[in-house]
This record gives sequence, C-alpha cells and structure tokens, in this order.
Amino acid sequence: MTGDLEAFSALGPQKPDALLALIAMHRTDPRPDKIDVGVGVYRDETGETPVMRAVKVAEARLVSEQRSKAYLGAEGDVRFTELLADLVFGTAKPDPKCFGLQTPGGTGALRLGAQLLARATPAARVWLSQPTWPNHGPIFAEAGLATLVHPYFDVEIGDIAFEAMLHALERSRPDDVILLHGYCHNPTGTQFTLDQWGTLADLCNRRGLIPFIDLAYQGLGDGIEPDGAGARLLIDAVPTALLAYSCDKNFALYRDRVGALFIQAASARLAELARANALALARSLWSMPPDHGAAVVRTILDDRELRGTWRYELDSMRLRLNRMRMALGPAHPALSSIAVQRGLFSLLPIDTAMVAAMRESHGIYMPADGRINIAGLNETNLDRFVDGLLPHLEPSLDARQAVVPVSQGALG
Ligand code: LMR
Repeated sequence: MTGDLEAFSALGPQKPDALLALIAMHRTDPRPDKIDVGVGVYRDETGETPVMRAVKVAEARLVSEQRSKAYLGAEGDVRFTELLADLVFGTAKPDPKCFGLQTPGGTGALRLGAQLLARATPAARVWLSQPTWPNHGPIFAEAGLATLVHPYFDVEIGDIAFEAMLHALERSRPDDVILLHGYCHNPTGTQFTLDQWGTLADLCNRRGLIPFIDLAYQGLGDGIEPDGAGARLLIDAVPTALLAYSCDKNFALYRDRVGALFIQAASARLAELARANALALARSLWSMPPDHGAAVVRTILDDRELRGTWRYELDSMRLRLNRMRMALGPAHPALSSIAVQRGLFSLLPIDTAMVAAMRESHGIYMPADGRINIAGLNETNLDRFVDGLLPHLEPSLDARQAVVPVSQGALG
C-alpha cells in the first residue's frame, strides 16, 4: 500500500452525540410502556410526530406544479425568506439595513452567522446561557470563536436568574456576541419578559454587545405573535443583530432542514457588505440550501387558506403542550414552574444517577441533564411518568398530591 498511512492519526476520538445515542437506546428497549421524553420533536396524543396537513397539501401542489429543480442560488428561495420575515418581524416593508437568507435549518443559520462574525470580528467572544442547547457551543467554536457562559437558570424558582446574568455580562467587551433564545428556552422552557428584553437591549447598546437570537419554536409557546415580540423589541432597539430561524418544529419539517438567517446592520452599506460575505460563506459551506422544505413553507404562507390550516394545527400543538404542562405542574411543588414554562422542554430537578434510575426502573428516556420533552407525555403515560419521577424528588407534604387529570387542565 502506498500513500500516507498516518493520515487522520492526529484526530482525537469523539464521544457519540448523547441525544442521538438516547434515540437508539430507546428504540431497542423492548418494554411496551417505555416513555420517550428525549429528543425534541413534537408528538401528538398518540406519540406520533405526524406530517402536518398543510404540509401534505403544499407537497402535493408542489409535485403537480413544480416545473424545474434548477439551482436557485446561494440565497435560496427569496419569496420564502420574505414570507418568513413577515412572520417574525410583522411587516414586510423592505429595509435596506436588513436582509435574510435561506439556510439548511436553524443550525445552518447559526453556523453561517457564526462564520460571518468570525470573519468580521475574529476576537469576538460568544456568551452562551448556562445551560443551553448542547450544539450551540460547538457551532461557534468550530467557526473559530471563543465561547463563554453566563448564569441563566435559577433552579429554586424554575425561572431566569436575570440579575446574575446581567452581573456576569458586565464582563463583556465591545463586539462580543450574546446568544439569546427567542422564546421557549432549550432546555429550561423559560423566556424573558418584555421588560427583560428591554433591559437586554439597553445592555447591548451600553456595552457594544451584538445580540444573536435563536428563534426555533415560534408558535409553540404562547402563539406566533407573542413568541416573536421579545426578538422584535430587541432588534428594533439595537443597530446590529442576527436572528437564526428554524421551521423544524413549527412546520414539523425536521429532516427537510428549513431555516433562515436574518441580519440587521447599522447602515445599508454595512448590510450590503454583510450580505455579500454571508453569500460567499454559504457558497463554500453548502453552495445552496435544500429547496423542498422551504418551498413547502413558501406555498403554505403564500396561500390564505393553507396558512389558516397551518395556524390551526400549530395552535392545537401548542395547546396540547400547555395542557400537559398544567397537568404535570401540580404533581409536586418542585415541578410547579413547569406549568408556566413554555415550549417543548423543561428541566427536572434531578441528577444524572436519577435519570439513569428512571430509565432502568420505568423505561423513561431523557438526556442526562434531566431535560424532558413535554410532548412525549400524554393522557395514557402521564401517571406512569409521575410514578417514576416522584421517588426522586424531595419528599414534601404535597408530594403525593393527585395529578390534575389532563381533561381538567386549565386549557382543556
Ligand atoms: C433537541 O434539542 O432535542 C432538538 O433540537 C434536536 C437536536 O438536534 O438536538
């Protein structure tokens, strides 16, 4: 054999992705009553992650009407991005200081934004909440940016440790970046109040911080409009901002990889520079984003009736999630904040050993940090889930308080 026998030998071993390993472990568990509250996909009452009806109709229309699959260009489907901008920002009015590009999922948007920031301000450091989605750190680090963490979650109150967060960010430097979850924080299910968004805007302006918002669950918290209100308030108040948008969850298009990166710059000239550089980076990263999912979203948002069907389905998903939250919250005082948290996730106050014990004794699957996907719960498995969890929570007088039947939940 010829050639370099040592190629790749300098690479370190890699741990398998914990979440993907969990999916595999759950799949091979033979217990019929196992419960999957692991990976973040929406599940209906029967545990399925169905294709939305609006998506099916849009797909059928595309199959019959699409004339060509010729390349669209590195910016992807321009009409898709316009319609999405309308959904996020509420106005379609063109602003020369802002632009959007279609990306492969929200992850692609985060990575493209990270690469652009690394090119524009290589010394910038990216502040991440502790905890955050485990992929946030690697996305920025692989783009060459240093990451730092700030405190975020107060376990005692089940809400944001806002003062501690602000205090830590007083150590930020001009041009540092702060990554903010737009709504439905992953993994804690928390969100900033509008007052807090205002305070964050003041902080960004005072310290020269660039906000980068990750909006991945619009419509699954309190509704399309309220879930985007904080992001809008912040972006209106600062000169420079980035927003990564994912259609994975709210259009249930997970594997089709549908997302967009929106950027606001301080002037039209800087926006044009940022756009030209982002396009060049996109071209070298993936050349062009995959078309199908974005074409589906465009078809839905461009058609009044289909858009209505989609909004109705999305509302039903959100109401089901919030019903499960109202049912689980009263099961133990340590869980009460789950009722007011939002989105797919909440973080249980249990440690890694307890997570493993729940898996072994009850076939309940969640990541090691105790994050649960609320959508994995339903009327059939909720009592079993609570039975598996309660022995691991601090005993309390109310500890065996009955779970509120799902049908009587406040949103029922
Ligand atoms: C999750 O957090 O479970 C999802 O966003 C899926 C993923 O890619 O990690």
